[in-house]
Amino acid sequence: MKQFTQAEQKRLAGEYAVDILISRGMIFSGMKIGLGTGSTAIQAVYRLAESLKADKLRNIQAVVTSFQTHMACEELGIPVFSLNSRNIGGVLDLTIDGADEIDPENRLIKGGGGALLREKIAAYNSKIFVILADESKLVPHLGSRFPLPVEIIEDARVPVIRALEHLGASCVIREGVKKAGPVITDNGNMILDCLWKTPVDAAALEQEINAVPGVAENGFFTRLRPLVFAARGDGSIEER
Ligand code: A5P
Repeated sequence: MKQFTQAEQKRLAGEYAVDILISRGMIFSGMKIGLGTGSTAIQAVYRLAESLKADKLRNIQAVVTSFQTHMACEELGIPVFSLNSRNIGGVLDLTIDGADEIDPENRLIKGGGGALLREKIAAYNSKIFVILADESKLVPHLGSRFPLPVEIIEDARVPVIRALEHLGASCVIREGVKKAGPVITDNGNMILDCLWKTPVDAAALEQEINAVPGVAENGFFTRLRPLVFAARGDGSIEER
């Protein structure tokens, strides 16, 4: 039997989710849609553009979560608005995104692409939150493999690292590729990648980390239960 690669699974999840959500009326003409970031979310952006071209969808109004997605929308002719604009009014009908880890209760770690701050703003201001994934993202416990990304204000780097270590984390400043020094996010901040030795209470930590002065946001997404579409290696899609 054919085995689908991780890249193929991402494409399958993106295409399947957009098609099925259009058929269920959850993605619809004129809607306000939040668009996530990364190699999986971009597959949904491509499918949306194809659906617009095929006239299955009209006049969607997008709010993007990164320069990457903004540039893709510009290229594909998807109109982009600020979440604050009159058109959007701070509320999205649906946001579609990828994830780094998904536990059995659909709680997430996000931010592998450094876009967690705007992704969380979009997700937490959406009526419906949809996550797309390949099977490698499904894990029994959050934080078992993937370090938690925490976006921080540079001026507070030393006290924030101290506070996170106090919460049991080992922190590494994310380094740029083809850029000397740290990754600087689309919001002008730095990212710490944080690991714990033992399983953690993600819901409690999501709040506790954000209470540290100098933390802009962390990559635990525990207060929503997104609809998840996960593609498997055999090409099947699990919806949960
Ligand atoms: C971006 O910051 C992330 O939250 C992505 O959604 C996440 O890292 C998944 O990325 P891929 O879809 O590229 O695996």
